[in-house]
Amino acid sequence: MSAIIIDGKITAAKIQEKVRKRTAALKEKGIVPCLAVILAGEDPASVSYVTSKKKALEEIGMEDREIRLPGSVSEAELLGLIASLNADPKVHGILVQHPFPRHMDEERIFSAVNPDKDVDGFSLASAGNLALGRPGFIPGTPFGIVHLLRDYQIPIAGRHVVILGRSNIVGKPMANLLVRRELNATVTVCHTGTPDPAVFTRQADIIIAAAGKPGLVTADMVKPGAAVIDVGMNRVPDASKKKGYRLCGDTDYEGLLEIAGWITKVPGGVGPMTVAMLTQNVADAAEDIHTLP
Ligand code: GUN
Repeated sequence: MSAIIIDGKITAAKIQEKVRKRTAALKEKGIVPCLAVILAGEDPASVSYVTSKKKALEEIGMEDREIRLPGSVSEAELLGLIASLNADPKVHGILVQHPFPRHMDEERIFSAVNPDKDVDGFSLASAGNLALGRPGFIPGTPFGIVHLLRDYQIPIAGRHVVILGRSNIVGKPMANLLVRRELNATVTVCHTGTPDPAVFTRQADIIIAAAGKPGLVTADMVKPGAAVIDVGMNRVPDASKKKGYRLCGDTDYEGLLEIAGWITKVPGGVGPMTVAMLTQNVADAAEDIHTLP
């Protein structure tokens, strides 16, 4: 048996096509969906994320308002900028690229974004809505993973999903999304305090690896036929590459091909979905609706 390769670019393109049509309809009514993207500092991975978001917005016909700030910007200045974008009726969504400069309080920055414009879904209000099963913006990576599973007809309801990693931007919202009634999965979250994650992953119908550890999930940790979703985007030093590194996920991709039922590509799996769901959230913000999971 060989795993079905999940290609996020194909699923993302289908979503972006729908968003493109919604954008065209909004523009006919004189509304140009606009996302403000704030990037503070020069983190290379962040610069690359912001570039791919910009490209997607342009392709769809949305307005992209990119604001680059030096890493030395003060928290007060950043909060002031967010407040002015909150008040700007032409801006429908606001995204502050993570990670922030170290001197900033993450929660304060994310929660300064008006929940009606919080297309990243990282404010306290959005996180609370997600956890309580109320309408609100759902973070792009977890929402994108659900779309990928559905597009590949991988059953979720009643299945056991094991998530590796408890970050606020992937692991936790992923767990909160999957336990909602609309999805009805049984969820286990493993993290750095879990002595032996393999005990759990071997029971999983779906493994979602979001720990930021290259090659963490190996073949002996996977039940035959399970779906493996790799969220890892690790830069591993590699002198043979022009850039000096290669991108590596949180799984031993080659080693899993013979055991997993499905496996995502890295890159080209979850990454394009995050961007596609972000554009869907911007369309939702411009239409003042929330797409349910
Ligand atoms: N850094 C990594 N992924 C994300 C994301 O989805 N949104 C933001 N704002 N920062 C990120």
